[in-house]
Amino acid sequence: MTSIGIHDLELATAHHVVDLTRLAEAGGTDPAKYHLGLGQDQMSFPAPDEDIITMGASAALPLLERNGIEGLRTILFATESGVDQSKAAGVSVHHLLGLPRQVRVTEFKQACYGGTAALQAAIGIVSRFPHERVLVIASDVARYELDSPGEPTQGAGAVAMLVSADPALVEIEPATGLFTDDVDDFWRPNDSSTAVVDGALSVSAYLDALTGSWDDLQARGGPGIDDVDRILYHQPFTKMAKKGQQRLVEHTGASLSTALTAAEQAAAGAARDTGLVTGSIYNRRLGNSYTASLYAALAALIDHDADLAGRRIGMFSYGSGSVSEFITGIVQPGYASRRGAERVAAALEARVPLEVAEYRELHARAYPSAADVETPRITRAPFRFAGLQGRARRYE
Ligand code: HMG
Repeated sequence: MTSIGIHDLELATAHHVVDLTRLAEAGGTDPAKYHLGLGQDQMSFPAPDEDIITMGASAALPLLERNGIEGLRTILFATESGVDQSKAAGVSVHHLLGLPRQVRVTEFKQACYGGTAALQAAIGIVSRFPHERVLVIASDVARYELDSPGEPTQGAGAVAMLVSADPALVEIEPATGLFTDDVDDFWRPNDSSTAVVDGALSVSAYLDALTGSWDDLQARGGPGIDDVDRILYHQPFTKMAKKGQQRLVEHTGASLSTALTAAEQAAAGAARDTGLVTGSIYNRRLGNSYTASLYAALAALIDHDADLAGRRIGMFSYGSGSVSEFITGIVQPGYASRRGAERVAAALEARVPLEVAEYRELHARAYPSAADVETPRITRAPFRFAGLQGRARRYE
């Protein structure tokens, strides 16, 4: 059978950044709660002329510049912060990237799981049309109410992935573990720009889904825990990955490191390092990017782990509501040529800090804003949301 998987990937984020020490101090909270309790240092925040489409197109552009567009006939855009109830965000990306008309475009939604749903659909399309390639874009802006427990876990980011046969980066293996459970842990009603969340329930639903999908992976003949070299988790905040790892240790009896910082890792003893620290390097600074979060963890691992060739990575994808999937992939020998640590570091460093008052003022604006007829030019990204014409969104 042909090997299919992720040929290349690229991460983009928003124009602004909010420092969580400043946010904690402004709210009278001990900063250690955010840095250690949640495992978050910063959160990306979009400028008024940015959204899921501008971030998604910004991630896709260098990917297509590196790989060309030959065989590209499908764009699958995963998001849970969609800007329209009807039109797929990927159609605007298709226009911004100047792609040929002979492309199918659609949008995937199931909370943070949508990115993995799109990846699996892309693999299905490539197995039907082995000479085609699929552009998968996962892009989200995570928004909670100001002064709510979820506020420090906001964030923004996009990951674009090119899915093809004989991938250069990660071959996705066929065995997969699934778990779906109708649970009201987190959702966003149509009339709300922020998520409604039962935090404690969401954490326990995530952990139950982890063991549920792991058990299904085992029942389907997937690799046992000793045959998985690295494990990545959906990271609504990076401490959640540590909680996931702790649960997997209890569930499987394996001796895996649950260290989330380099200092903890140095003291972890004989417990096996499966990449918890390395896989959280970007998400600590992006915040939650919902559908993109797991793939931002993959980007961080690829960019910072020099010993990945031939290694098996396990990836746990969770989307509230809830649907989850545990997939595995084999890192390809030439993966090092695809590493983008300098590019990502530059993008993170280039973000413009917001004072807490400025951030609160931007947050209070409706998202998307109906009043944005002519959006001010702020972002330095290659694409921007220019405003509304009639009620249609304009991008340039
Ligand atoms: P909270 O009220 O901040 O919780 O809400 P807390 O008071 O329990 O504190 C959090 C941690 O900080 C605790 O550690 C405290 O001990 C620690 P833990 O017991 O968890 O190990 N702490 C401190 N540590 C050091 N120094 C201190 C200190 N003080 C406290 N001084 C909660 C936390 C996650 C509930 C909140 O942030 C929230 O509601 N977040 C949004 C929901 C969420 O992210 N859920 C995660 C699972 S669901 C999911 O992943 C899906 C999602 O991405 C959406 C989708 O699928 O679309 C969210």
